[in-house]
Amino acid sequence: MVVGGTSGIGLATARLLVETGEQVRVVARSEERLRRVAADLGGGTTWAVADVSDPDAVQAAVDGCVREHGRLDAVVTTAQPMAYGGVEQVPHDVLTQVVAVGVGGVGNLARSVMPVFRSQGGGSLVVVGSLLGEIAVPGMGAYCAAKWGQMALVRALQVETRRERGVHVSLVLPGAVDTPVYHLAGSYAGSAGSAPPPIVAPEQVAKACVRLLDHPRRAVHVGPGTLLTRTGFRMMPAIYDRLAGPLVAKVALRGPGVPDHPGNVFAPRPDGESERGGWTPDGRLRSGPGRRARWRRR
Ligand SMILES: NC(=O)c1ccc[n+]([C@@H]2O[C@H](COP(=O)([O-])OP(=O)(O)OC[C@H]3O[C@@H](n4cnc5c(N)ncnc54)[C@H](OP(=O)(O)O)[C@@H]3O)[C@@H](O)[C@H]2O)c1
Repeated sequence: MVVGGTSGIGLATARLLVETGEQVRVVARSEERLRRVAADLGGGTTWAVADVSDPDAVQAAVDGCVREHGRLDAVVTTAQPMAYGGVEQVPHDVLTQVVAVGVGGVGNLARSVMPVFRSQGGGSLVVVGSLLGEIAVPGMGAYCAAKWGQMALVRALQVETRRERGVHVSLVLPGAVDTPVYHLAGSYAGSAGSAPPPIVAPEQVAKACVRLLDHPRRAVHVGPGTLLTRTGFRMMPAIYDRLAGPLVAKVALRGPGVPDHPGNVFAPRPDGESERGGWTPDGRLRSGPGRRARWRRR
């Protein structure tokens, strides 16, 4: 089951799994997009509508998976919206929902999925976190809070399940990835978000997710530059703090001016979803939904 399997890293993961002969169920909020993606992936891919922040919807998606596929061996979750803006600028309900999806969503999945894994004698949960679960970035506080919280919850779950044979929980922590997340995001920062280079392909993160299903690890980082950034944040906080603001303005919030909006935080934006966002590795927008979204805004 790939939660968030209709776009970006989740879609790349679902595709890779189908290509290797696995039966896949994709889960997200947009029925329209789920139907299109399942038909495109083929291979008997099934789908379920669920907002991961809703425990009943998650339970129904898991129950449906076991009913339709006979079992549930693995879950990869990538579901996470983003909202740009200073801590004082992002509205309460937006901040709360970003965290509810990132942190509450993993809790909901754990509650529904772990009993199934146990009853089958094993299973693997892979959570896609972020480099921003280990560093703090100005103008991205809501997302950082979701990813830090998600990381804490996953680490606790790893310790809680460590003696259970065959039950595994892994975490993938990418740097920037070429997906539509940047133009799907909400913004209260005055401008649209951009992918900060260096940017890797979603297929690279998908490969890490699929590998973890058979070779679980506590945490795997994906992307060049993540070690340098984490080290700077931890070992040289004064220098990090001085550079972070100007760098974010230059590389992460260099999009066109936009009025405040919640993006896909509360509702999906299926027309903006795709596997890739159209970013080059060095941060230019060459094609794809991101470029179309920017032209529409002009
Ligand atoms: N792209 C990056 O640069 C990057 C970097 C580091 C980490 N990550 C992490 O990688 C993961 C995937 O990101 P991405 O870039 O692939 O994002 P994406 O292209 O925006 O895809 C997000 C997926 O999650 C689904 N989703 C969003 N909110 C949901 C909810 N409440 N319930 C269920 N599904 C929901 C979306 O479908 P619906 O909207 O239809 O529900 C979509 O399928 C996220 O956890 C993100 O934090 C991304």
